[in-house]
Amino acid sequence: MISDPSLFPKDLFRGKTVFVTGGGSGINLGVASNFAALGANVGICGRTQDKLGHAAIGLRELNAHVEGKVLPVAADVRDPAALASAIARTQSELGPIDVVVAGAAGNFLCPAEELSPNGFKTVIDIDLLGSFHASRAAFEQLRERHGCIIFISAPQAFVPQAYQLHVGAAKAGVDMLMRNLAVEWGKFGIRANSIVPGPIEGTEGLKRLSTPEADAKAKQVVPLRRYGSVDDIGQAAVFLASPLAAYITGTVLLVDGGSALVGSALWNQTVETLPRAKR
Ligand code: COA
Ligand code: NAP
Repeated sequence: MISDPSLFPKDLFRGKTVFVTGGGSGINLGVASNFAALGANVGICGRTQDKLGHAAIGLRELNAHVEGKVLPVAADVRDPAALASAIARTQSELGPIDVVVAGAAGNFLCPAEELSPNGFKTVIDIDLLGSFHASRAAFEQLRERHGCIIFISAPQAFVPQAYQLHVGAAKAGVDMLMRNLAVEWGKFGIRANSIVPGPIEGTEGLKRLSTPEADAKAKQVVPLRRYGSVDDIGQAAVFLASPLAAYITGTVLLVDGGSALVGSALWNQTVETLPRAKR
């Protein structure tokens, strides 16, 4: 699963605690796995305890070499009190949090003229408010540990894409939140950065926004001619949390094989042919 952990010492994050929102699946689980493989204690939250419990089994195998701990704790990131309580429990069971990964998100395809106020609000609430709630609730621990926050953003934040108005607004907000926190919390030794994944194989996000036929065409225009893996994102995250990135804050790191360079014209043509989830 982890493509080449030997590039970093396997105990790089031994004794450190990483808390990942939305860590029960997909890209965020890939990020959590890369931290666990390098010895971190890992807390993951999401709305579904069963899903988190299943993910935790794999994470425990990955950090067993340092007798690391894993805590799956259900919380909806839209509920600041529930999230604060999950973060407090993580601190008491795993130790103070060194790294927050704000990755929980929601997405669906919807033309702007059909999007309801609550549909727009729901994605803003999960992606943007949820990222604020996680950062805010972890602040004291991050200050104590001179820690960092990694936001999982998306190319929609800066490349407008049809049927993705809600996501574009939410993720642009996330990147600006990140920059403001970098400015304000730098004096406490806290770094904040965003990762923008390109299309990542095998994920819920890709499933919701694509079909195998559309993917085959899209891969031909990705400069690196492939979609990414969850480990591509996980490795970028461990780099940003590592001492190698000690002077990096306030940046948006594209991990997308160059996808953003070619814009959204192909997507905007294709999107009308894609199946849309029933409500
Ligand atoms: N098209 C248009 N509107 C949609 C929609 C769709 N496919 N799916 C949901 N909505 C609207 C709903 O109609 C509702 O608005 P309304 O009250 O005006 O009808 C609003 O969004 C909230 O929907 P609801 O199903 O109650 O939200 P939820 O909080 O249970 O779930 C979602 C949040 C909608 C984002 C859901 O898709 C989800 O849980 N996603 C998490 C996983 C995910 O998206 N992964 C990919 C990450 S990139
Ligand atoms: P995913 O597996 O669905 O990840 C989203 C996670 O967030 C899920 O584990 C989900 O778990 C959790 N979540 C959703 N709503 C939540 C809430 N209200 N409170 C707490 N947790 C919640 O999808 P993914 O595709 O891997 O996406 C992960 C991240 O990468 C997202 O931030 C997404 O925007 C970003 N991204 C993805 C791609 C891609 O190609 N897939 C590209 C660019 C950016 P529950 O449903 O159990 O709560």
